[in-house]
Amino acid sequence: MAAKSKPQVNVTAERDPTQVVEGLWWVGRGPWGMLPALTSVGDANIWLIRGEKFDVLVDVGGGPSLAPLEGRIRQAGGDPRRVREIWLTHSHYDHTCNAARWLAKYPRARCVMSATAAEFFRRRDLRLTGMAMFPGLKYQIPRRLSAVRTGNVLECPPYRFRAVELPGHTPDCVGFRGLIAGVDAMFTGDAIIGDQGAVRGSIGWLDGLWLSDVRVYQRTLQKVAGDPPGLILPGHGVPHYGPAAKRSLRNCVRRIGKLLAIPNLPSMMPLFPPDAEVADWKKK
Ligand SMILES: [Fe+2]
Ligand SMILES: [Fe+2]
Repeated sequence: MAAKSKPQVNVTAERDPTQVVEGLWWVGRGPWGMLPALTSVGDANIWLIRGEKFDVLVDVGGGPSLAPLEGRIRQAGGDPRRVREIWLTHSHYDHTCNAARWLAKYPRARCVMSATAAEFFRRRDLRLTGMAMFPGLKYQIPRRLSAVRTGNVLECPPYRFRAVELPGHTPDCVGFRGLIAGVDAMFTGDAIIGDQGAVRGSIGWLDGLWLSDVRVYQRTLQKVAGDPPGLILPGHGVPHYGPAAKRSLRNCVRRIGKLLAIPNLPSMMPLFPPDAEVADWKKK
C-alpha cells in the first residue's frame, strides 16, 4: 500500500497571502500581533476557501474599503466575483463590518452567521458588533443572511464544513469545522486565538458590552479541547497545526480557568460601558 503523503501546511504570516493548505488561503488581516498586515488596520483574519464551483470567505473585515481585500483575493489566484458565501464567525465589527458593503457590490453573495447573531440583528440590537465603542460610525446589517446552529452543514464543494457554536467571548460565536486537503481544520474566530508569540492561550476580549460569559466560555473551550481539530484558523494571529493546535487549546483552557479563579469576576462585567449607556446608544 502506498504511504499517504503528509499534507503541506503553511501557518506563516507572510507579506503576501499565504496558501495554508491546498484550497485555503489567508488573504486578509490587520497588524494584530505585530504581523505584517495584508489588508486594513481594522481587519480580523480573513480566509478564502477556493471551491470547485464557487469560493467562500470566512470573515470579511472591518476596514474602510473592500479594495485591499479584493486585491489580495486576486493575488491568491481567486476572483471576488466567485465568492458566493461569507461565513461570519461572530458579529464583532472587525470581522463583519464589510459584509453589507460586499453584498451590495456582489449581488450573488450571501452571509452565514449563527442563529444567535441573526436574532440580534432581527431585533436591530447591535450590542454584539461592539460598535458602541465607535459612536461616530454607522453599522450596516447584512441583508442576505442565513442562520446556522451546531451541526448544520455548510458546503463549498468539494469541501463540507459543520457549524459549531462557540459561545463565551460573545454569545453568537460560531466555528466551522471540516476536512480540507486531508486536514481536520476549524475556523474559530475569536473564541480560540491560542498561543501567539509570548502569549499562551490567547482568548477573545471579554466584556459585558458584548455579553461575554466566562463560565459559558470555559465550557466551550473544554468541549473543543476534548476533541481538538488538527488545524486551528483563528480570528487573529497565526494558525496552529498538529501538536501546536492541541497545546494552544490546553493553554486557552488554562487561561480561562485562571480568570475564573478571580473572585467575583463575572460581576465586574460589564466593564464598559454600563447597561444604561448601551440602552441609550441603541436608541440613537
Ligand atoms: Fe471578537
Ligand atoms: Fe476580533
